Amino acid sequence: MKIAVLPGDGIGTEIVAEAVKVLNALDLSFEMETALVGGAAYDAHGHPLPDATLALAKAADAVLFGAVGDWKYDRLERQFRPEQAILGLRKHLGLFANFRPAICYEQLTHASSLKPELVAGLDILIIRELTGDIYFGQPRGRRTAVDGHFPGAEEAFDTMRYSRPEIERIAHVAFQAARRRNGKVTSVDKANVLETFQFWKDVVTEVHAQYPDVKLDHMYVDNAAMQLVKAPKAFDVVVTGNMFGDILSDEAAMLTGSIGMLPSASLDAHNKGLYEPSHGSAPDIAGQGVANPLATILSAAMMLRYSLQQPEAADRIERAVQAVLSAGLRTGDIWSEGTRKVGTREMGDAVVAAITGKTITK
Ligand code: IPM
Ligand code: MN
Repeated sequence: MKIAVLPGDGIGTEIVAEAVKVLNALDLSFEMETALVGGAAYDAHGHPLPDATLALAKAADAVLFGAVGDWKYDRLERQFRPEQAILGLRKHLGLFANFRPAICYEQLTHASSLKPELVAGLDILIIRELTGDIYFGQPRGRRTAVDGHFPGAEEAFDTMRYSRPEIERIAHVAFQAARRRNGKVTSVDKANVLETFQFWKDVVTEVHAQYPDVKLDHMYVDNAAMQLVKAPKAFDVVVTGNMFGDILSDEAAMLTGSIGMLPSASLDAHNKGLYEPSHGSAPDIAGQGVANPLATILSAAMMLRYSLQQPEAADRIERAVQAVLSAGLRTGDIWSEGTRKVGTREMGDAVVAAITGKTITK
């Protein structure tokens, strides 16, 4: 089992170190190799996704990714910005299916900004298409407008597009995921305005004919944003395009109390995947040892389940995370009165202790 470890920038290095520690505690034999990515790679090699890093990721069975980005790169030409590393990895590795679960842990029900009864027991799965849409559509750029409201003025444009095979494959992923869960898919679109999303809706409906046992409904993205905070537990699987999925998954993350708890998986057609926390590089708290490593540790569990065929090891990690939460250990983002505040390393150590069977003291 070959794992490419790409910690990246900001808190990325701190949280990935804890996930690696947890993987090493499992007594499985992994071959882990680390490489630079994002701003760290730009500083060292002049590119956020160096060829060697991409080659390592391609050769591995799975990629464990931290986070990329820092304000100091904001003025760089787009191709050199840290975000291009994750976009490039998704594109070059064909990672089209992004799984972003939003699970509200019983121990953290009160950390949500919503009323506890709205989120208690929440377990929804956002499946975001990851290699198409306005993120990658061509043409894009800047030019002098030839028509429109201000002909002759400078303007910028991007292209929203989806092809039938792109929509079909993500729809299959969503229906199959729903079969393993509560049998319901909500497809989110903007078919009332956008041709791309009328097509999306039509194709998802066609694919649904192959899954009569799964319930499908359609929702406009603005309404979905509202329903997510009104009655989040009404959802099971949400499937949507790249941009809507980006936005809705951040919203869904906050239902659970902290984005610091949420893992994600980005899969290709053959279960190879990139695993990363749903949160970013948090440069404001980088280097302080206070970041929550649990999203990354839970991402490692997803990696074991989806790409490395080690479901029992994944269960062990998830049970260990539950145990440390039940023991009252909390990083700052999920801390509340009556719990014990710990740092990044202490949290990782506690998960390792829970896995190796040592007791955790409150
Ligand atoms: C995410 C991030 C990325 C995205 C950025 C960093 C390119 O926000 O993974 O959700 O927009 O996809
Ligand atoms: Mn995002």
